Amino acid sequence: MLTRRQLILGGAGFTAGAGLMTLGGRRLFPAPAAAAEAGSARNVAVHLVAAERQTALPCFAGHSLPLWTYSEAAWPPTIRIDRGDRLDVVLDNRLPRDGEHTSIHWHGVRVPNDQDGVPYLVQPPVAPGESFRYSFAPPDTGTFFFHSHCNSSEQLGRGLVGILIVDGDAVEPYAADQTLVLHDWLMDTDAGTFRGFKTKRGADRAGTYGNIRSANGVSDAEIRLPASSDCRVRLINVDPTRIMEVAVVGADAAIIAVDGNPLPPVPLDGWLLGPAMRLDLALRAPKEGGEAALVDRRQDEPVRLARFVGVGSSAPAKSFDPRPLRAGRIPEPDLAAAERLSFTFGRADSGGAPIAVSDVASGLPIGPICTASDHFWTINGRSWPDSGHAVIPPPLATLQRGRSYVFELQNTTDFLHPVHIHGHTFKVLRADRRSQPIHYADTVLVTPEETVEIAFVADNPGRWMMHCHVIEHQETGMMGYLQVG
Ligand code: C2O
Ligand code: CU
Repeated sequence: MLTRRQLILGGAGFTAGAGLMTLGGRRLFPAPAAAAEAGSARNVAVHLVAAERQTALPCFAGHSLPLWTYSEAAWPPTIRIDRGDRLDVVLDNRLPRDGEHTSIHWHGVRVPNDQDGVPYLVQPPVAPGESFRYSFAPPDTGTFFFHSHCNSSEQLGRGLVGILIVDGDAVEPYAADQTLVLHDWLMDTDAGTFRGFKTKRGADRAGTYGNIRSANGVSDAEIRLPASSDCRVRLINVDPTRIMEVAVVGADAAIIAVDGNPLPPVPLDGWLLGPAMRLDLALRAPKEGGEAALVDRRQDEPVRLARFVGVGSSAPAKSFDPRPLRAGRIPEPDLAAAERLSFTFGRADSGGAPIAVSDVASGLPIGPICTASDHFWTINGRSWPDSGHAVIPPPLATLQRGRSYVFELQNTTDFLHPVHIHGHTFKVLRADRRSQPIHYADTVLVTPEETVEIAFVADNPGRWMMHCHVIEHQETGMMGYLQVG
């Protein structure tokens, strides 16, 4: 049983949990066991200092770049707690530029609204020199991350992200628990500097892609795993732009959780992983000395993101039959009684109506780093932010607290949009152009001309963002919010 109860604030490359122990011959559970009850809860204090730090990630090939990070720890910092623990975070903003305010959004965590980290909407922006305190007990286990929520193309582009892992979902420990944080860097490789973090052309199309691909800050990372054993690999796409199709070549792998939400294991045969999306895999490590690879096969030539190398004497091989995780705790939507709402993710040039000043829900002016001079994208025909109207617009929809909803997310554009909703985890019922298992998620890809149906219980009161997580799309209009309760 896992008795590890201390916070780990370390690099994502850290291999935690059961270490390199293998469990030979243990019987597997055929289906998710009941959700675990929280053990004795602790208060876990974490101090995050957003600042510029010159960092020589291995993927920078000898150069040191001005990353914006939360901690001196290896990039990116990882907070690891047990379900039931309360997280007490002090954020200090020491970013080096006047007016560069920040905040922390706990992506995918069903926090109370005032902990959700969206400046102006739920909290004041945290200006340079200021601090803010977050305190909440994550209700769900799983793989999460956190990031700021304004000027995110630059703040994320410079690496201002952290990982949050909430333990308590493993029925039995895996032989290893490895996090792979996927991020592309926009780098001028000759000069050893960052290039711009967004472009007008990119914002108007699929986004501005980074040219240096990395996992945990390493290009073609070598990940050593206990040979022939079943390991947990947590893929986290923290890139502001990149949509990849992840696959494992040379080893058996199964999806055991999507966005931290367990599902009965399904063989991994390519999965579209957009910005902010996470995928937990059970992976049969290669034999001693053997190698397997994590690849992005959405490219013409598959790109190898990491190599898995088997180390140590091999356990006797039995067939791959991954252990499911414990079931999650997401409230089940009542589909028969659900209200249906549809949302169109579209382009602004075909009638992206600016939000009328008389419509504003609050007079709070929005600071300049949260507004954009271009708007290319819309939700239900509306763009936000819109430069001339730097105020909080009315909600996209008002939801009744406790009621079930089915949302039809319709993409009328030629580009993919990873659609994220704050404060709620939804069930992905169907996508009309792809087949995928029913699963829970907080971010779902809607491919060109596709309609995706999701359902959830609107049980968390407050103002919750709904937006595309291709950050340049978000920043040029494809965002809005839902009012619950
Ligand atoms: Cu990870 Cu509103 O975003
Ligand atoms: Cu988008």
